[in-house]
Amino acid sequence: MAGRSIQGLRCLITGASSGIGLAIARQLAAQGARLIVSARREERLRALVANIVAAGGEAFAVVGDITDEQTRRRLAAESATRWSALDLLVNNAGSGAFGPFAESSPDRLRRLFELDFFAPVELTRACLPALRAAATEHRRPLVVNVGSVLGHCAVPWKSEYCAAKFALRGWNDAVRAEWAREGIELLLASPSTTASEFFERVELGEGLARPAGGSRWFPPSSPDRVARDIVRAIRRGRREVVPSWGGRCLVWASRFFPAVIRWTLARQSPPAS
Ligand SMILES: NC(=O)c1ccc[n+]([C@@H]2O[C@H](COP(=O)([O-])OP(=O)(O)OC[C@H]3O[C@@H](n4cnc5c(N)ncnc54)[C@H](OP(=O)(O)O)[C@@H]3O)[C@@H](O)[C@H]2O)c1
Repeated sequence: MAGRSIQGLRCLITGASSGIGLAIARQLAAQGARLIVSARREERLRALVANIVAAGGEAFAVVGDITDEQTRRRLAAESATRWSALDLLVNNAGSGAFGPFAESSPDRLRRLFELDFFAPVELTRACLPALRAAATEHRRPLVVNVGSVLGHCAVPWKSEYCAAKFALRGWNDAVRAEWAREGIELLLASPSTTASEFFERVELGEGLARPAGGSRWFPPSSPDRVARDIVRAIRRGRREVVPSWGGRCLVWASRFFPAVIRWTLARQSPPAS
């Protein structure tokens, strides 16, 4: 695929109040993109917008819960009325859960799917008219879905999260083919362990200790590093990006040596309480 310039891109980014989304927002703004940023924590969004505007950029905040249809409608309306078209939608907001499936609840499964699957899918649907408007201007609009390496390789004790990220990947690949002729592109970004607030906010099974973010062999990446790889993939017109070396190893191993991965995962110790 051909590359694209970030300068002047009309972008909507979810989950921009911390971690990977905040880093993507800062980097896109520094390269001249115009932004609508969204999340629930208003003060953080206002501080981000103030910094971008002080540096001569353009940014607006829409505060709200992305699992709420009204928030998604407001976001789509904001981009349509402010710019009349949308060049880049970054579906980044997300969260995780940890613990044995047998002891988890139907509520937790549904909560996770609302945030990690239905919210990005339904926000994309709501933004489709604005994306189509950008396609008619020959702007090659792009939807970036922030999945996970766990959307390629499923691991124990994260069954709900793996299921939601696999679902996002499946939907991403299906609509990529559907929209190819319209000129709307999709990029699936699959980070591995990243040192954000993600692990502080993971929903825990009862009595379980919080999981460590990374290990000695696979240390966490910084959100800035992950965002740099994602923004580079946007510029280069890529379809997929797996930002870390460890993450790429896991994706390749699960694709080419599934029996080895199955054998290894089945020998993992249960989570500590
Ligand atoms: N960290 C990792 O190891 C890792 C690895 C692979 C993939 N990922 C994926 O990367 C993405 C970003 O995660 P992160 O690591 O940057 O975590 P993070 O620092 O916890 O950021 C999550 C973002 O999502 C927003 N968010 C959460 N629930 C929301 C809701 N109901 N409505 C609106 N916004 C909501 C949060 O903002 P508010 O709380 O202010 O609403 C925050 O801005 C997620 O999709 C995650 O699954 C992370």
